[in-house]
Amino acid sequence: MRTVIVTGAAGFIGMHTCLKLIEKYKVIGIDNLSSYYDVNLKKKRLQILKNYKNFHFEKMDICNKKKLETIFKKNNPDFVINLAAVAGVRDSINNPGPYIQTNLVGFGNIIHLSRLHKVKHFVYASSSSVYGGNTKKIAEETDVVDKPVSLYGATKKSNELIAFNYSKLFSLPTTGLRFFTVYGPWGRPDMALFMFVDAIIKGKKIDVFNRGKMSRDFTYIDDIVDGVINVLNKPSISKNTPYSIFNIGSGKSVKLMDFIKEIEKNLKISSKKRLMPMQLGDVKRSLSSVNKLNQWVGYSPKFNIKIGIRNFVDWYLKYYKIKL
Ligand SMILES: NC(=O)c1ccc[n+]([C@@H]2O[C@H](COP(=O)([O-])OP(=O)(O)OC[C@H]3O[C@@H](n4cnc5c(N)ncnc54)[C@H](O)[C@@H]3O)[C@@H](O)[C@H]2O)c1
Repeated sequence: MRTVIVTGAAGFIGMHTCLKLIEKYKVIGIDNLSSYYDVNLKKKRLQILKNYKNFHFEKMDICNKKKLETIFKKNNPDFVINLAAVAGVRDSINNPGPYIQTNLVGFGNIIHLSRLHKVKHFVYASSSSVYGGNTKKIAEETDVVDKPVSLYGATKKSNELIAFNYSKLFSLPTTGLRFFTVYGPWGRPDMALFMFVDAIIKGKKIDVFNRGKMSRDFTYIDDIVDGVINVLNKPSISKNTPYSIFNIGSGKSVKLMDFIKEIEKNLKISSKKRLMPMQLGDVKRSLSSVNKLNQWVGYSPKFNIKIGIRNFVDWYLKYYKIKL
């Protein structure tokens, strides 16, 4: 059985990715259980993963190079999936330290060890945030992405540059995945869907930025996991360099107000809205082209917000034992 190291394993995307991987691989999950959001949620995700005998967990910080080295030596991984990051777009502007540490220093450690241990494929989470202030309607991988509007976006763009360098100089196969607003069961408490559902149920007001004039490419978690696993098995090569970047989105744009209406429909409660101006670091719209990933691995997103929001609300009510 081949071995995969997954960093950020107790995170939202990490948990779902590991759950799929353990069907076929030995998985070494790494996470420092950072307190960026509710640690209990991370522990509960881990409890589920720990039920599987080919899942092993190491609680550690990817900035700890020595410990990371020991784990690489002990497990000799075939593949590495780096999902560990501090992932707050707006938070990164006023609180840059943890972003520089994990997203740059930690990333540097992981990719370097992957090179030294001759990993067959290094896959890492980039983000739609790299498109920053671009005004083009549909984001494509060939677009110039030199203008991040948040430090978080800048760290993800830096990851792509570092990965290119490792692929070029050391022939390390690397693939960066630009995730577009991921949502679904076990999702993140700092993201819109979770915050809206939570506030609406508690009768609190929801903050609606840019007075609702926003749209997002919302991607359901199962589509993301599909993309990650299919790419893992198929590193790509272009101009003698085993390096690639792919968008993973739904390829559809949803207006924020329609997203909120769908939540209200599921909860059968109307929201109380606090209309707010645009926030620093935020973008008004996001929409991915997924043609490149479709052509490479046949990626074709299957979930729309009707099913996705319903699944999230079902999970949320069950998890918090709420009867409406
Ligand atoms: N969720 C999205 O919409 C989205 C969109 C674009 C990109 N991404 C990227 O996808 C990846 C996973 O995101 P997520 O939504 O699952 O976030 P998450 O916060 O739920 O997961 C990240 C995990 O990494 C862990 N971590 C943070 N710093 C660490 C460190 N120094 N050492 C070890 N572990 C550490 C955290 O404890 C957390 O469990 C991240 O790289 C994120 O930037 C996510």
